[in-house]
Amino acid sequence: MEKESVIDMEYEFPKDFEWGVATASYQVEGAWQEDGKGESIWDRFSHIPGNIVDLTNGDRACDFYHRYREDVDLACSLGIQVYRLSVSWPRIFPNGRGEKNEKGIEFYRNVLNYIKEKRMKTSLTLYHWDLPQKLQDEGGWCNREIVEDFKNYAVTLFEAYGSLVDYWITLNEPYCSSFLGYWKGEHAPGYHDYSMALAAAHHLLMSHGTAVKAYRSMGLPGKIGITLNMNQPYPADIKNEEDQKAAERMRMQNNQLFGDPVMKGTYPQELFDFLKGQGVVLPDVREGDLELIHQPIDFLGLNNYFADIVKADDGAWPLRASLTTKGLPVTDAGWEVYPESMYDLLTWIQDTYQPPEIIITENGAACNDWINSDGRIEDTNRIDYLKRYLREVHRAVEDGVPVKGYYVWCFTDNFEWAWGLSRRFGIVYMDYETQKRTPKDSAFWYKQVVENNGL
Ligand code: FCB
Repeated sequence: MEKESVIDMEYEFPKDFEWGVATASYQVEGAWQEDGKGESIWDRFSHIPGNIVDLTNGDRACDFYHRYREDVDLACSLGIQVYRLSVSWPRIFPNGRGEKNEKGIEFYRNVLNYIKEKRMKTSLTLYHWDLPQKLQDEGGWCNREIVEDFKNYAVTLFEAYGSLVDYWITLNEPYCSSFLGYWKGEHAPGYHDYSMALAAAHHLLMSHGTAVKAYRSMGLPGKIGITLNMNQPYPADIKNEEDQKAAERMRMQNNQLFGDPVMKGTYPQELFDFLKGQGVVLPDVREGDLELIHQPIDFLGLNNYFADIVKADDGAWPLRASLTTKGLPVTDAGWEVYPESMYDLLTWIQDTYQPPEIIITENGAACNDWINSDGRIEDTNRIDYLKRYLREVHRAVEDGVPVKGYYVWCFTDNFEWAWGLSRRFGIVYMDYETQKRTPKDSAFWYKQVVENNGL
């Protein structure tokens, strides 16, 4: 017994460490046309056959819009300390700007109040990818005027929920909104133009800055930050100089293009020079833009799932670098499991940016879960993944990286973007037909982690 508790305490986290779960509006809410909500780019995109691998969409998803109490109750019963959710912009402004939809405002107020009632903290993301389609019709993130629209939207939320939110997250993964949406075409709005992606990235970052600035001027309680998805890059062949350079380019594109302006007020010039040489049109960065982006933040949110194993690849325009998994084990999302990369990444972030605090706002694994005949979901692979990643987070904390919280992606299985309902990331199983929620073994395991404040 004694020995066991010694082992239990091996990975104890700091006393004020916070354990959470993460979700996002389009992925869980459903009710896509209810109570005055406008169309989002994800409604439009997912309704076009061919965009989502299993031909599903988020019209219903987990029906969180009607069942949020059930999910919040369940999270509470598992001892969760922070509940992360996002706001659907077209629920608040069906046209992106102009007339407000009071029913939409009321919905999130009810949800936030309910989370608070259950004694959990709230983490609210302003933008987790579901842009009002009306704004997309005007160019979306490629249109510089969107910065003003975002400010107006953000201030509306600050005014409405100022006393109910503990952690504000301006943007979730602007890399994905810009690069997957405008360059890879895998995400809404589905373009394939690298220069558009860069322009979108710049306006996303400006939107972040303008929201933080407005927030500061309002003197609200709570904290504000941004969530970036970063991956630690490794050359596919460690001895190959071209692979090493390619890995550095990948780092600049995926991590520094977003991290540098937010944390240092600069863009990675070396990357811009390289891209220019490839014929890319660089973003229109005007005087004052970088100052606007570079606002002091209270925490840096980090989403991380895998590492970038990079090889030099002349065919991959414009970066001349591509990704490989190099034989590492992968989850059912095809993402390689490389826990040590979490440690390397956290220490790199600390050395490069010294953020006041880091919150891991997403980490988790997709597994092909099923319900056993006895009703149990034995997701041992997910538990194994989470355990191994958490050990690396712990190692970084021990080495002085100020990680203050960790949120599992995701609370319930949900609509996983271009992968539809086919990828399950939840610690709670969703039967989409009946809408029944069943905690998986990982949920009970996570409950223990929270209770013990460690592994
Ligand atoms: C992240 C997204 C999140 C979810 C996970 C699996 O990139 O932020 O919405 O899809 O991946």
